[in-house]
Amino acid sequence: MASVDLNNIRKAYGAVDVIHGISLHIEDGEFVALVGPSGCGKSTLLRMIAGLEEITDGEIAIGGNVVNAMTPRERNIAMVFQSYALYPHMTVAENMGFNLKLAGVAKTEIEARVSEAARMLDLAKLLDRKPAQLSGGQRQRVAMGRAIVRNPAVFLFDEPLSNLDAKLRVQMRSEIKTLHQKVRTTSIYVTHDQIEAMTLADRIVVLNHGKVEQAGTPLELYKKPANLFVAAFIGSPAMNMLEGTVDGENGEPAARLEDGTAIRIAPDRRVKAGQAVTIGLRPEHLVPGIGNGTPLAGRTMLVEPTGAQTHVVFDLAGQQVTAIVDGEYPAHYGTVFEASIASDQVHVFDRGTGVAL
Ligand SMILES: Nc1ncnc2c1ncn2[C@@H]1O[C@H](COP(=O)(O)OP(=O)(O)OP(=O)(O)O)[C@@H](O)[C@H]1O
Ligand SMILES: [Mg+2]
Repeated sequence: MASVDLNNIRKAYGAVDVIHGISLHIEDGEFVALVGPSGCGKSTLLRMIAGLEEITDGEIAIGGNVVNAMTPRERNIAMVFQSYALYPHMTVAENMGFNLKLAGVAKTEIEARVSEAARMLDLAKLLDRKPAQLSGGQRQRVAMGRAIVRNPAVFLFDEPLSNLDAKLRVQMRSEIKTLHQKVRTTSIYVTHDQIEAMTLADRIVVLNHGKVEQAGTPLELYKKPANLFVAAFIGSPAMNMLEGTVDGENGEPAARLEDGTAIRIAPDRRVKAGQAVTIGLRPEHLVPGIGNGTPLAGRTMLVEPTGAQTHVVFDLAGQQVTAIVDGEYPAHYGTVFEASIASDQVHVFDRGTGVAL
């Protein structure tokens, strides 16, 4: 196991800069998720850590040793990809032990490591099967087994679950988390699925256009997004964003929407009267009925039951706002939906810079 340090990492393909100087310290044993939209540089960053991609500038250290000049094998990392690329003619056991065999590890040692990994991944009964005789989830577990038997210092995952159907993805997510809790190997996990990042990671790094927007624990990112980009990225359904202007500065600040609705904001927000802001309201913080916070009301445009909860989309100052209510709540298309929001749950961002206030 080892820590991983990125020190001002840059990557350019020809004249095009794709990673613009990323610095990050990852603790020994930590599980870090890299998230961000397609093309933001997640895979490129991971491949540079793995040694599969040349680093244009900066330094990468694993366990305190600079690895820039080392081959992937010398870095002692194991990578699990989206496509698990198992050898079709080999059994599960042979697939899992293949890299060890290439490295000249003794047969008895290979057998011991494969059977230990198979036990951990619940593959013991499948060791003699060929990949074609396995389900998608089982194949993905074999791919992880192949990584585990090498006993690497660091695991790198590049969207390992994106080829699986929704149910299997949730199951494998739990298995990866359980596995990390057992082996505690430093892990860097790339995904564009924020739920996967939230549920798996000790810490999430949000990337956008080759830069870090924010790094923090899942709850830090959820509660205190540093800017509009992170606020919109973390949380499902997404945060509602409304344009407003700051009003009433003296201890009772509010944001006035276009239709005149004033939404009270916490007095500790660094706002100025007349400032153009974007207000962020999480759907789960809009409490239906008349409460203690700012009352909001509008015509119901859409009702989406999901079982335990229902998503209600209503009109507020000409914009569509989503609220999450209890599944039993009587919401009806066309009727007026009323809700309230507490001032300390109202996120405020400068509209020009997008920075949280
Ligand atoms: N070999 C290459 N030559 C030129 N540009 C490249 C090359 N590989 C990647 N890029 C560019 O670098 C940027 C980052 O790509 P990367 O694959 O790291 O994105 P990503 O965040 O992993 O996206 P996705 O979520 O779609 O997998 C993209 O704009 C991509 O077009
Ligand atoms: Mg990618």
